[in-house]
Amino acid sequence: MNESIRFINEKIGDFEPEIGIILGSGLGELADEYCDIAIPYSEIPNFIQSTVKGHKGRLVFSNIHDKKVVMMQGRNHFYEGHTMQEITYPVKVMKQLGVKKLILTNAAGAVNEKYNPGDLMLIKDHINFMGTNPLIGQNDESLGERFPDMTEIYKEDLIQVAEKCGNELDIRLQKGVYFANSGPSYETPAEIHMARILGADAVGMSTVPEAIVANYCGIKVLGISCISNAASSSGGSKLSHEEVIETTNRAKTKFKQLILKIISEI
Ligand code: HPA
Repeated sequence: MNESIRFINEKIGDFEPEIGIILGSGLGELADEYCDIAIPYSEIPNFIQSTVKGHKGRLVFSNIHDKKVVMMQGRNHFYEGHTMQEITYPVKVMKQLGVKKLILTNAAGAVNEKYNPGDLMLIKDHINFMGTNPLIGQNDESLGERFPDMTEIYKEDLIQVAEKCGNELDIRLQKGVYFANSGPSYETPAEIHMARILGADAVGMSTVPEAIVANYCGIKVLGISCISNAASSSGGSKLSHEEVIETTNRAKTKFKQLILKIISEI
């Protein structure tokens, strides 16, 4: 950790980010438009590289609306074969850099039948169905406690700010529960049926590990899903990564508008 932080600090000087953003599939453009300093993950000691198409793989620092922001342009996923500890390492780095609030974004399939592709959903809670937990292993007491509380990961005050921003921009926002699978296979119709019974509104393969670690080390989390497709259902058409990218591309203008306004208000 000291090596990573020393390297990053050499690049960013006295820039101390207060807001972190992890940009999900097809949503990375924000970091192209607002980029003061960019550091490829491959250059940072102990960081791992993203292997997914459509994910760039760099840490981008920028002043946005007078707020100091650090963005992950591309995230690492559990299904790539990395460990939970590896994929959540950047959240711990953000904590060390001074980040107080973290906006997590992703593309997700709709479990809730009222949702449409292109909708944006504020995450009010999650179900960790990945079969493991990023906090397994020796605990670093300087970061957080052994058995951290998870009753309000996605902070109500941040959700309220996001809802107000959505209203003012005339962007309709859903609010629901995100259900995380390990992936990389999409779900079967029976699995989606199960997720619906368990109270899920959207399903995806990311975000939950980072949200757990951020909450554990005292970072306030806001989560936003871009609903990219109807989750697999009997009688539905086949699902592909291309469809996910195509929908997020269509939604990215309003997504960016929303994120920018949220940054100015939190
Ligand atoms: N399932 C899981 N992850 C996803 C989906 C989905 O339908 N769409 C985008 N990410």
